[in-house]
Amino acid sequence: MVQIDSLLHAGYHNPTTRPWQVERTLTKGSLMYPIFITDEADAKIAIPSMPNQFRLGVNRIEEVIGPLVAKGLKSVMLFGVPSDSVKDAFGTAADDPSGPVVLAIKELKRLYPALLVSCDVCLCEYTSHGHCGHLNPDNTINNTASVKRLAEVAVNYAKAGADNVAPSDMMDGRIRAIKQGLHDAGLSHRVSLMAYSAKFASALYGPFRDAACSGAQFGDRSAYQLPPGARGLGRRAIQRDVNEGADMIMVKPAMFYLDIIRDAKELAPDHPIAAYQVSGEYAMIHHSANAGVFDFKTAVLESMTSLQRAGCNLIVTYFTPELLDWLEQ
Ligand code: PBG
Ligand code: ZN
Repeated sequence: MVQIDSLLHAGYHNPTTRPWQVERTLTKGSLMYPIFITDEADAKIAIPSMPNQFRLGVNRIEEVIGPLVAKGLKSVMLFGVPSDSVKDAFGTAADDPSGPVVLAIKELKRLYPALLVSCDVCLCEYTSHGHCGHLNPDNTINNTASVKRLAEVAVNYAKAGADNVAPSDMMDGRIRAIKQGLHDAGLSHRVSLMAYSAKFASALYGPFRDAACSGAQFGDRSAYQLPPGARGLGRRAIQRDVNEGADMIMVKPAMFYLDIIRDAKELAPDHPIAAYQVSGEYAMIHHSANAGVFDFKTAVLESMTSLQRAGCNLIVTYFTPELLDWLEQ
């Protein structure tokens, strides 16, 4: 016999009361769309491992982003995909004034002044060795040199017009260095700093590395990305980045790391928490839906709900175009 104090159904059987039980409702403004910008200005190249995603040249931005802005897109995250010929050991091309990211920032701000333009800050797309920082002669990370260069790149993106910089390199101390750099450049009042604080060494970045041609040429990223089981390191990295001056805290990947998102919300309750639903999560949902495992829209919306339930305020997701349509209905 069901006890009187066991009865929950009544609270959520009605379509009007169901949303009352949900902590957060998804809005268009809580989505950030990651886009890949190549240095071939006229290119629009499909990324095989990421259905419906493209490497875009600067001249193709308007045709892809324009309709999304019209549907209520509020923010994008830029990734540069330069050709191999510009890569060197130091990632010199990262902030090339005529490189894809700087040109894309200027084009996006020209076309859509109100669109928040966020830039991923990392060196792996620009280094010949494919690692996220500078290396010592023995191929270990030279953290000091890496941080100095990353801060320089972040400031140059900000000077080009970026509204937000998001370092994904996972070097120690880069949040403080970037914040200081933005301040010294007179930009700290208008350019925010989103720390990829708890970024784990994940299998789920596979399609992205294809898309951005940013895989490591030797070794892996385990010297700087967190071990997937290390909740403690995740918590420490979140607290550190809050103390170093991050304006927002990100957890990445998202769906396998819901406990870390909740940790972030508890450790940094006064900061917006971002979750990055990465390329492998995107591909997984697409392929599963295509294989008939589940309904595509239901699964995408459930993934969003779970990230919000875990505690995040904004979601970086390649599903943004579909979500803008669905949120309209
Ligand atoms: C670069 C970077 C990566 C991602 C974002 N920035 C890949 C990596 O660290 O290897 C992953 C994004 C995705 O998989 O969608 N540091
Ligand atoms: Zn990187």
